Amino acid sequence: MAAAEPQWVLMATGRSPTNIAVIKYWGKRDEALILPVNDSISVTLDPDHLSATTTVAASPAFPSDRMWLNGKEIELTGGRFQSCLREIRKRARDVEDKKKGIKIKKEDWEKLHVHIASYNNFPTAAGLASSAAGFACLVFTLGKLMNVNEDYGELSSIARQGSGSACRSIYGGFVKWCMGKNDNGSDSMAVQVVDESHWDELVIIIAVVSSKQKETSSTSGMRDSVETSPLLQYRAQTVVPGRILKMEEAIKNRDFESFARLTCADSNQFHAVCLDTSPPIFYMNDTSHRIISLVEKWNHAEGTPQVAYTFDAGPNAVLIARNRKTATLLLQRLLYCFPPQDNDLDSYMLGDKSILSDAGL
Ligand code: ADP
Ligand code: DP6
Ligand code: CO
Repeated sequence: MAAAEPQWVLMATGRSPTNIAVIKYWGKRDEALILPVNDSISVTLDPDHLSATTTVAASPAFPSDRMWLNGKEIELTGGRFQSCLREIRKRARDVEDKKKGIKIKKEDWEKLHVHIASYNNFPTAAGLASSAAGFACLVFTLGKLMNVNEDYGELSSIARQGSGSACRSIYGGFVKWCMGKNDNGSDSMAVQVVDESHWDELVIIIAVVSSKQKETSSTSGMRDSVETSPLLQYRAQTVVPGRILKMEEAIKNRDFESFARLTCADSNQFHAVCLDTSPPIFYMNDTSHRIISLVEKWNHAEGTPQVAYTFDAGPNAVLIARNRKTATLLLQRLLYCFPPQDNDLDSYMLGDKSILSDAGL
């Protein structure tokens, strides 16, 4: 009689924060490898507030790879999960757990299946970059399980193949995704611009206008924009390169005025590209527009920007206040304009659902 396979489970858990772009990524030049049409810059949030937590388990008892997201099983079809798994498996090394008596040779990882369970502590697919936190966390945690020893640049490049924005969540602070020139994507990865301690006066407030899942995913929205929006090409080639240089300068010099002007302008241009898409994509709603108005009027009255706003592919506002004092005023104004009790409209959830994040910055 053949000896029974030893039954064991080896697990690893990791947590990754989300990131919000201040110069947006919108459009791919290569769909399969996830190569963007322009560079982008983002700020990584504090993992205590918005993050994904992922546990990966490997066992000879698992007949296939499976994944659960927020407690529900999801299909691992579509190339993205497979690309991340394949790239990490390729780099796997020997693992030994003496206490449990487990010894895995690097070539064994090709045959071992994994079970993945991930939770987001914020709304999924609602325009707060859950795909960024999710795929960064998946790559990081798989790497931990399989004893991968690659540098952060390499992990960033692998996370990119799960979701473009995920390549930036590998680092804290302000991060730039360099689009790269190579067709194989080997130079398309993120680098840290400054770490989280560089501009620690900033306070980030996330106003959750709606936690509903968006109708158009980022992936399909940007595919439609690439195919139909003339503004997208102009933005990528003529506008963004200059903004990237200015944004890096503003961040390095802690120049809030330039930072805020660039951030708001870029968010607005990204949503203009969405409107320029056929059929048009509406990610923001009336509440989002009212928040923009509130901030614009305030900044205009002060003569110099106090708060920057940016909206990803969804209606939720990311507001960046220049310091704690401004953040307190901002919260007061938001609660005054959007009182928590006033929930006769769906979109008036802002008051009781807003998340205050000091972003560790
Ligand atoms: P978002 O604006 O939240 O990033 P996207 O449309 O870009 O929305 O991506 C949502 C998709 O990202 C989900 O449908 C799921 O496939 C993936 N995703 C979200 N959270 C996770 C997670 N924690 N782990 C793995 N994948 C995730
Ligand atoms: C508006 O990274 O979610 O948040 O690469 O197809 O997974 P895929 O898209 P995703 O797109 C993010 C778009 C954005 C802007 C940004 O994060 O730069
Ligand atoms: Co996303």
